[in-house]
Amino acid sequence: MMNAVGLYQYLPIENEQSLVDLQIDRPNPTGNDLLVNVRAISVNPVDTKVRAPKNDIESIPRILGWDASGEVIAIGPDVESYAVGDQVFYAGDITRPGSNSEYQLVDERIVGRMPAQLNYAEAAALPLTSITAWEALFERLGISPHDGDAGKSILIIGGAGGVGSIAIQLAKQLAKLHVIATASRLESVAWVKKLGADQVVNHRNALDKELGIIASPQVDYIFCLNNTGQHWSAMANAIAPQGRICSIVETPEPVDLDLLKSKSATFVWEFMFTRSMYQTPDMIEQQRLLTSIAKLIDEGQLVTTVNEVIRPINAENLRKAHASIEQGNTIGKVILADWK
Ligand SMILES: NC(=O)c1ccc[n+]([C@@H]2O[C@H](COP(=O)([O-])OP(=O)(O)OC[C@H]3O[C@@H](n4cnc5c(N)ncnc54)[C@H](OP(=O)(O)O)[C@@H]3O)[C@@H](O)[C@H]2O)c1
Repeated sequence: MMNAVGLYQYLPIENEQSLVDLQIDRPNPTGNDLLVNVRAISVNPVDTKVRAPKNDIESIPRILGWDASGEVIAIGPDVESYAVGDQVFYAGDITRPGSNSEYQLVDERIVGRMPAQLNYAEAAALPLTSITAWEALFERLGISPHDGDAGKSILIIGGAGGVGSIAIQLAKQLAKLHVIATASRLESVAWVKKLGADQVVNHRNALDKELGIIASPQVDYIFCLNNTGQHWSAMANAIAPQGRICSIVETPEPVDLDLLKSKSATFVWEFMFTRSMYQTPDMIEQQRLLTSIAKLIDEGQLVTTVNEVIRPINAENLRKAHASIEQGNTIGKVILADWK
């Protein structure tokens, strides 16, 4: 048996039954799976979106959580990249039980070796947001990670959040872009500047107008991490001719793609679970990019984005972290560490 935090019902976070402490069976690895002793987890908006209130009832408890660090304690017969005792970090697969459990199965192809310089809590802040930011910048937007696009400009909307905090660093440190981040409060403005943003504008105002005020009316790239619909027309105005926009946030209302036509601007989605959800042949790219992130951390080019660590991992603390994410103004990452 093992400790876990999960749900049977989808309830408002104020309800004590929205996330409950559990004792469930410990799984065994087969195929390419690693069995990981989870030591720290982080909480992302995807957790609160999956947990959002609805009438469904689960007969087997649902385990959420898609960000973890821990130690490999057993491996499936087909595993090639890892051995028992390795320290790893990963986001996991949205179609499988999540990381809010003491032991978790995860496919080795979406797992990275943990940065040697970080402890478990610091490492757990990184996988989901790093995969998202890396795929968005270097694959979907096609920006060169080796300064081939140095000097071009990017607007990162929602810069102080989990994804923005690592995206700013990748855009600045690796791609050598001119980074304009959005933030609306003194603390979040200070945070994005510390991480390397060259300029900051306020997403509570129309972003195209804000860019005009700082004399950067058009940008080569836009990475949208919040309210795609709200920012759509401003993004269409601000994108340079033949520029590229990537969003990671679903939009409840339709957006008008025609606004991009005269500029031949590209719009592309990023969804970091695509590779694991569809078992794409290039799934192992996520192992490679997490390994690159670990190397960049160890070389001092990137820093962890952890901002708060709560101990131990249990339902009460996880409910606190979900409540904080639901407010929509967290800075960096909230981590839970240790089971006792
Ligand atoms: N598609 C994918 O693969 C993928 C992956 C990861 C995340 N996501 C989604 O991307 C979104 C961001 O994730 P995250 O982890 O970065 O979130 P997060 O950490 O919760 O983001 C919090 C930040 O959002 C900013 N913000 C609040 N309202 C905003 C607005 N109207 N416009 C711009 N920024 C605003 C806040 O800045 P201030 O406090 O300065 O206002 C705050 O710092 C979530 O919806 C998440 O579900 C998608």
